[in-house]
Parts: sequence; C-alpha cells; structure tokens
Amino acid sequence: MTDTHQTNANQNEAGWPADLLAREFRGKRVLVTGSSRGIGAAVAAAFADLGARVAIHGRDPAAVGAAAAAMGHGVVPLAGDFADKAATRAVVAGAVAALGGLDVLINNAGTMLGRVALADIDDDFLQRQFDLNAASAVVASRAALPALIESRGAIVNTGSISGRTGGSPGSSLYSAAKAFQASLARSLATELAPHGIRVNAVSPGTIATDFHERYSTPDKLAQTAARIPLKRLGTAQDCVGAYLFLASTRLAGYVTGQVIEVNGGQFYG
Ligand SMILES: NC(=O)c1ccc[n+]([C@@H]2O[C@H](COP(=O)([O-])OP(=O)(O)OC[C@H]3O[C@@H](n4cnc5c(N)ncnc54)[C@H](OP(=O)(O)O)[C@@H]3O)[C@@H](O)[C@H]2O)c1
Repeated sequence: MTDTHQTNANQNEAGWPADLLAREFRGKRVLVTGSSRGIGAAVAAAFADLGARVAIHGRDPAAVGAAAAAMGHGVVPLAGDFADKAATRAVVAGAVAALGGLDVLINNAGTMLGRVALADIDDDFLQRQFDLNAASAVVASRAALPALIESRGAIVNTGSISGRTGGSPGSSLYSAAKAFQASLARSLATELAPHGIRVNAVSPGTIATDFHERYSTPDKLAQTAARIPLKRLGTAQDCVGAYLFLASTRLAGYVTGQVIEVNGGQFYG
C-alpha cells in the first residue's frame, strides 16, 4: 500500500488528503460475498467506484453476472452456494486467482431461509442455517487466510441487530448465526492480530432489501420503521460507510474486534 501521509496539494490542514478514500482503495483487491444484490451489491459497487479491484459473488450465476456487468470497472463475477463448503472455498480461490491476491474479505453472504418455529425445525434446516449463516464465514476466511497474511489485510463480517435482540419469532437459528458473526470477528481479531490482519463486523438493523420482500410483511416493516428513532428503515447505501471505514487502513488501522451497528438508533427487534 502507498503511504498516504505525505504532504501534497490535496492535503488539508488536518493532514487528511481530500481524495482519501480513492487513495485508500485504488488497486486494493476486495472480495464481497453475497453481493449480487442488496447490501453486498452496494458495498461492492462503492469499492469498485473508488478504484478497487473487486470480485462479487452470489448463488445464481446469471444474477451475479448481470450485477458485475452493471457495476462495470472490470468487476469479477463468481457464483457458488455458501451452504456448501467446497463451493465456498472455490469462490475464494477464484477471487484470489482473478485479483492476484486479496486485501479485503467481506463475509456478507446469508439469508434467513424462512421463519420456522422451534417445534418445526428439522435437522436439515438446522444444518443449512448453520452452514450458510455461520460456518461460511469461517470457511471463506480460512480459504482467504494465506492471501490475507501476505497483504496484512482486513476481514469484515456481516452480523445483524437480530444477533443482539434474538430477532422476531421464527428467526431463532438465523439470529443466533448472526450473533456468531460478531463473536467470530472479536475472536479472530485477537488470533489474527499477529499477522497484521484486522477483523471487524457490521451489524445492520432493518434494511430495505429483497431480504424483507421474502421474510417480512409490509405491516411489520411499517411498525418497525415507526419505532426506529430516525423514523425510517435503512437502505443498502446506509450500510456502505461502515464497511469502507472498517476496511480502510488509514481510517480504521487501530480498530479491530469491533461491531458497528447501522440501525438508525434501533436497539430492539
Ligand atoms: N436486510 C436486512 O435487514 C439485514 C439486516 C441485518 C443483516 N442482514 C444481512 O446482510 C446480508 C445481506 O442481506 P441483504 O438484505 O442484502 O439480502 P439480499 O438482498 O437477499 O442479498 C443476499 C445476498 O447473499 C447471497 N446469498 C444468499 N444465500 C446464498 C447462498 N446460499 N449461497 C451464496 N450466496 C447466497 C445472495 O445471492 P442470491 O441472490 O444469488 O441467492 C445475495 O447476493 C446477509 O448476510 C443478511 O443476513 C440483512
């Protein structure tokens, strides 16, 4: 990475270059999992617009190809089911090969898979929830580790407000898996610090994406919005800044093991 501390014409009095984010991410190699739509797509597009070399990912090859084409900037599309460990490893290997290494891994792939009450949870649903929403971040991080050690890179997991609150009825496994993402970030932060790798998490509140088209009714969303102190649901764009901040060495080089809540002040389910 280039040292951005030099004095130059773009530097203001506080020593912060006016083009800080572009300088920070230009040429950086970034994989955002679960980025064919929603929060991941907004984050990946922001990195690409700032000059990073980005690989995006989704389960559906056609959708991820279309999303990459829409983002431009040579964004690399990769597809694979993250409930499948071999497919997860293949996506990370594909990103490292295509980008020539990796500086930032955003572990964002996930979804609720359905609202299911405890009495109706079968073993297959339990396993798939764990594999997709908890284990995939471990599998992806482990696969990316050699490249991240080489770059002294950063990992950002996606948790959820439901990891703190337990979520609403029928979301017990999903919510517990999202709490796992926050704990995993804290634990790996300590373990990977000797390699210079920072590990953090973003914990979105209720963000208006396709996710809620599938798992929440308009009434439930309206009630939630009314209880949020900022009086609206979040957007995918609202989440972007927290990911950029945590991925940035200049802005967050001494920040590791932290969870940033992006929720409009909402601290309940
Ligand atoms: N929206 C919210 O309110 C909210 C709140 C807190 C946390 N989150 C978390 O934020 C992340 C993004 O959510 P979102 O709202 O942006 O959801 P979204 O719009 O549904 O996007 C989910 C992304 O993850 C991918 N994905 C889902 N299941 C996958 C699987 N089995 N294998 C590989 N990729 C898979 C999707 O690809 P395909 O479309 O191809 O399946 C898509 O790219 C998730 O981890 C979610 O749990 C969301």
